[in-house]
Amino acid sequence: MKSVLYKKTKKDFKILPNLEDYERTYERFNWKDWEKELAWFEDGKINAAYNAVDRHVDTWRKNKIALYWEDDDGTQKKYTFEDVALASNKMGNILKDFDVGRGDRVFIFLPRIPELFFSFLGILKIGAIAGTLFSAFQEQALEDRLANSDAKVLITNSELKPRVDKIRNKLPNLKHILVVDTESFTKTFAHTSSELHISHMDPEDYAFMLYTSGTTGKPKGIVHGHGTVLQQYLTAKWVLDLKDEDTYWCTADPGWVTGIAYEILGSWACGVTSVIFAGRFDPKRWYQILEKYRITVWYTAPTAIRMLMPKGTQLVKQFDFSSLRHMCSVGEPLNPEAITWAISAFGMPFHDTWWQTETGAMCIVNFPCMDIKIGAMGKPFPGLTAAIVDDQGKVLKDNEEGNIALKPGWPSMMQTVWRRPQKYKSYFVNNWYITGDRGMRDKDGYFWFIGRADDVIKTSGERVGPFEVESALVAHPAVIEAGVIGKPDPLRGEIIKAFVVLQSDQQAAISNKKVGDKLKEELSQFVKKHLAGHAYPREIEFIDKLPKTRSGKIMRRILKAKEMGLPVGDTSTLEEY
Ligand code: WTA
Repeated sequence: MKSVLYKKTKKDFKILPNLEDYERTYERFNWKDWEKELAWFEDGKINAAYNAVDRHVDTWRKNKIALYWEDDDGTQKKYTFEDVALASNKMGNILKDFDVGRGDRVFIFLPRIPELFFSFLGILKIGAIAGTLFSAFQEQALEDRLANSDAKVLITNSELKPRVDKIRNKLPNLKHILVVDTESFTKTFAHTSSELHISHMDPEDYAFMLYTSGTTGKPKGIVHGHGTVLQQYLTAKWVLDLKDEDTYWCTADPGWVTGIAYEILGSWACGVTSVIFAGRFDPKRWYQILEKYRITVWYTAPTAIRMLMPKGTQLVKQFDFSSLRHMCSVGEPLNPEAITWAISAFGMPFHDTWWQTETGAMCIVNFPCMDIKIGAMGKPFPGLTAAIVDDQGKVLKDNEEGNIALKPGWPSMMQTVWRRPQKYKSYFVNNWYITGDRGMRDKDGYFWFIGRADDVIKTSGERVGPFEVESALVAHPAVIEAGVIGKPDPLRGEIIKAFVVLQSDQQAAISNKKVGDKLKEELSQFVKKHLAGHAYPREIEFIDKLPKTRSGKIMRRILKAKEMGLPVGDTSTLEEY
């Protein structure tokens, strides 16, 4: 693969990276040697939350700021490691009083407020399983997740609670809803003990679960164990290069795996001071946060970077970013223009990192100590074996396109897919974990991302399953059926596009363009209101018939090819179209 090389120079190494020699480390690496950097209980057990926060309380970091929090309206709060440890102990105790125990599912449906973080840690501390829900979720998305997981308790606030009330009667196993901004909760919190026995867990014991999308069916619950914290910690140390002097900002939401791994567990396990901005994306505001807190390490996503780019380097130059020393990106392909822009705007590149909800932590990355081939995802983290394999799991040669695959057994690999053991098994072929991404490896060992092997959509970095959106659309009375694809978009990576077949009585009406446009708007809003604020189709096209296989499956690949003006490929399984 031809590419421009960003060669690291002395300027890039003003501060020596935590990992100085990738190749040497990779050769000799053994996870066992690094386990000792974590805290294990005397009986050999572990707790991920204890490792993130409490273990620092026994050191000089006790009074170090763990969290600077700022809201949209400028409200600020700060918490030391001890504060976070005690507040999460209280949350653990409150949950215990509601009879939550090991293995019970407790879901959090909150904006990025401090209580979200205390709750997450508290749940892990008592051995329960934490689930996180984006605050953009609407009733359908909530019902799918809360019902499938059989959540026992939901933690939310008074703004979001009404959405859950609407579906409460469909959730017989949801015993309690805790509303963190009520007077009664505040009182309970104040009176609850901050002393808690932290559960001793095996690395495989479940700690948290996240629902994520594939091509077919409803979202699946990816379950991770307490042992994930090992890889989350070491990647935070070697890839984000977190050091005690750093002030670190990850812009992700814990509704997404990035927010869990690198805003709670991995980053805090490094003992780093973190900034959490709960407000909306806004270029100026983001720059103010970077400047005000003197952020040194910044982890964000390609869509955000692309949204900063049109504001130009001009805006950047109005701020003092002299503290900034390292930047990383995740979630979707990081286009070369974004990297070159960053070099001119910030004087340093973004380091791309590749991983998935299922992998639990970064897997293929650009290390600070490594030159960057602009456009490549980098190299496998030590302890991981990555390869390009064909559909039978046979390893392909360099420069051949195939499935990006990993040798199973890395510490943060998912433990299971909640109540879907067959789905879990289907990830593995010939003792390779098949990621669902296509790519290639070049002769120097760098991996390149090519695209998804399935119909999963990545819009603004969010993973959306076409089936979820199609199901939401057909719930509208005007719709017979719908096919949904990701349409390439220069800003958002992809946007959701829906092809909709209308009920016959509607079909005549839409020959009037105004009526048609109105209905499109109505359908978009319908999905937004019932499924999620971010998973709605930005483009809708009415068509007479969807391309389907003879067995009735929608062939989204054909819709996509047509949309992009590309050859439709093999149509041998296609029903007459
Ligand atoms: C995509 C995100 C290109 C990929 C942590 C993957 C990327 C999916 C990159 C997982 C990257 C993630 N370059 N594509 N650096 N990082 N992806 O589960 O398709 O939300 O399979 O986890 O995002 O998305 P998920």
